Amino acid sequence: MSNIEAGSDSHRDFFCKQFIDTHQVFDPDTLPWPTLSDEDLAKLRAVPFWQEVYHTERRAGAIVDAFTPRITDPVVREAVQLQGFEEARHASLIRVMIERYGLDAQAQPLERFPDDLETAFIDFGFGECLDAFLGFGAFKTARQSRFLPEAMFEIFDVLMFEETRHIVFFINYMAWRERQRGLGPARRMFKTLRFYSRAGMRLMGMVRRGQEPNDGRDFAVTQTNLFLDGFSFRGFVEDCYRENARRMRAFDPDLMQPTLLPSIADLALRGINVWDKTRPYLRRSS
Ligand SMILES: [Fe+2]
Ligand SMILES: [Fe+2]
Repeated sequence: MSNIEAGSDSHRDFFCKQFIDTHQVFDPDTLPWPTLSDEDLAKLRAVPFWQEVYHTERRAGAIVDAFTPRITDPVVREAVQLQGFEEARHASLIRVMIERYGLDAQAQPLERFPDDLETAFIDFGFGECLDAFLGFGAFKTARQSRFLPEAMFEIFDVLMFEETRHIVFFINYMAWRERQRGLGPARRMFKTLRFYSRAGMRLMGMVRRGQEPNDGRDFAVTQTNLFLDGFSFRGFVEDCYRENARRMRAFDPDLMQPTLLPSIADLALRGINVWDKTRPYLRRSS
């Protein structure tokens, strides 16, 4: 954000125009879906979270669509409307994949949204920031371990790019919105932390639900091991951090970008490094 004052009309015009200009035209049905071998099909079917991903994307489209007519600023409204279209297209992309490869996931009824749709949108936005940051690392790990053919990752990459665009848009939208309301840096930071912790709690709830025994459809342990072999916490955090930086380079440097999660990851990595360096000395002296 070198030349543009955050929260100004020119900031708003800039981040909304960037978002609209980088929209990609594609149809989920005609993407180059590869033919998978029986072994790859079994791996894809063993992934336990397709139901959750499908539901999340359908829910995303519904929240963004419900919030759009409440936005009074026409420039922002046009951009958010486009995001709603893209989220609905993510849901169709996942649906096409479910049908094509016979995955075990169905459309489930969507929950009722609260009357305060703006807060629902903001909760959703911070949730996307958290999911995307962790997703960057998970995606890198899966791709590197050749869990599935590269052609599948190229399709998921289309989705990842759009999610990255969404979080960049969201961070700029929040900065613009909060400054419009005259919120100072301390209150903005406090609010960001509050929303991230809500997003974190939701994610933990999802993970817990995923671990509950589910009508006999146990997660194929051997398949997971294939994916998680050699998993290290430090490696994962490093992947999240590096992939975030790499994916952010695709965006105009004048746009604001998410900084909190990368800073936390950076701090954690420094902590791990210091710990690793001092551990031998601690052991020797004890
Ligand atoms: Fe999405
Ligand atoms: Fe999104």
